[in-house]
Amino acid sequence: MSSEGRPRITVKSLSLEQVKTWVTSPYNLYMKLQDGRFVTVFRIGSPIDQERLAKYAAKGVTTFYASEQDLDQLGTEEGAAAVASSNSKLDALEKISQTVFDDLLALGVSEATYNNAKAVSKIVRGMVEKDPKLSDAFSKFQEVAAGDVRHAMTVSAMSTVLCSSMDWVKPSTYENLALGGLLHDIGMLSLPKDLQDGDLTKMSPNDRKIFEGHAESGRALLIQLKAVPDDVAMIVAHHHERSDGSGYPLGLKDIYIHPLARIVGLANELVESFEADREAGRATSVRLLVEGLINSQASRFNRDVIKSLKALLASDALKR
Ligand SMILES: [Fe+2]
Ligand SMILES: [Fe+2]
Repeated sequence: MSSEGRPRITVKSLSLEQVKTWVTSPYNLYMKLQDGRFVTVFRIGSPIDQERLAKYAAKGVTTFYASEQDLDQLGTEEGAAAVASSNSKLDALEKISQTVFDDLLALGVSEATYNNAKAVSKIVRGMVEKDPKLSDAFSKFQEVAAGDVRHAMTVSAMSTVLCSSMDWVKPSTYENLALGGLLHDIGMLSLPKDLQDGDLTKMSPNDRKIFEGHAESGRALLIQLKAVPDDVAMIVAHHHERSDGSGYPLGLKDIYIHPLARIVGLANELVESFEADREAGRATSVRLLVEGLINSQASRFNRDVIKSLKALLASDALKR
C-alpha cells in the first residue's frame, strides 16, 4: 500500500523523566522500535504505570513520543489552562492518596496487601479522571471538603484490604468495590452546606432525614451520569444499610443489601473508628479495629462478611 493518501503523523519526543511525573498520560504515547515503527505504550487518559516505565528504562528506553496532533490540541491557551488545572487537581489527589497509603502501612497492613490496594486505587482514580462527567463531579466533591476526599480514599483502600480474604472477589470486583468506596459519599454534594459535616447526633429529625438522603442522591447522580456500573451505584445507595435493619435510609435487612455495599459499609465504619482514634491520639491498627468490630458489633453485619474478617485476622494480610 502506498503511503500517499495516509495522513502524515509527526511526532515529538518526551523524556522518560518527564513521563515519570505524570499520573495519567495526557497524550497517546508511543515508543520507537529499532525498525523505526512506533507502538502505543500509554493511551491518552490512561494511568502511567511506574513499574512498566521502570521496565522500559531497564531496556534502555529513555524517550517516548507523542503525536503532534495531540500536542497541538493542547497548545492553545485554553488547552494549556485546562491541562494545568487538571494537573494541579491530579497532583492534589496524588498527594492525598500517598497520605492514605502511608496511614495504611502504619495501620499494620502487610506489604503485599498494601501494594495490591495501591495498584487498585491507581486504576480506579484513572477511571474517575478519564471520565469527564465523573471527574467533574469528583472535583466538585473535592472542593466541598478536602477532608472528605481523604476519608473516601481511605474507605476505598480499606474495602480492598478487607476482601483480601474473600475468595469470591475477582479483580473486576476489586475495582468496583474500590470505586464504590471512593464515591460512596458523592451524594453529599446535594446536601445543604451546614449538613455536609454530617454529625448525626446534633441534627434535628428533619435535618437527619435530609442528611440520610445522601446515599440515594449519590446513586441517582451516578445513574444520571451513566459513568459507573450498576454495582457501584448500588454500593453508594446502600453504604449505610446494616444487616440487622438498623441502617439508613431504608432500614434494609441483610439479604436486601447489595453484597458489595456490605463490605464498603463495614470499611466505612472501620475508617470512622480509625479517624476517631487518630483525632484522639490513640494508637490503633486494622487488626485492633477489626477485632473490636467482631467483638461488639458483629450482629449488625452480614454473617459471611464477619466470617471473612476472621479469616483476614488469621491470614498474612495484616502484620502481627
Ligand atoms: Fe455516607
Ligand atoms: Fe463515609
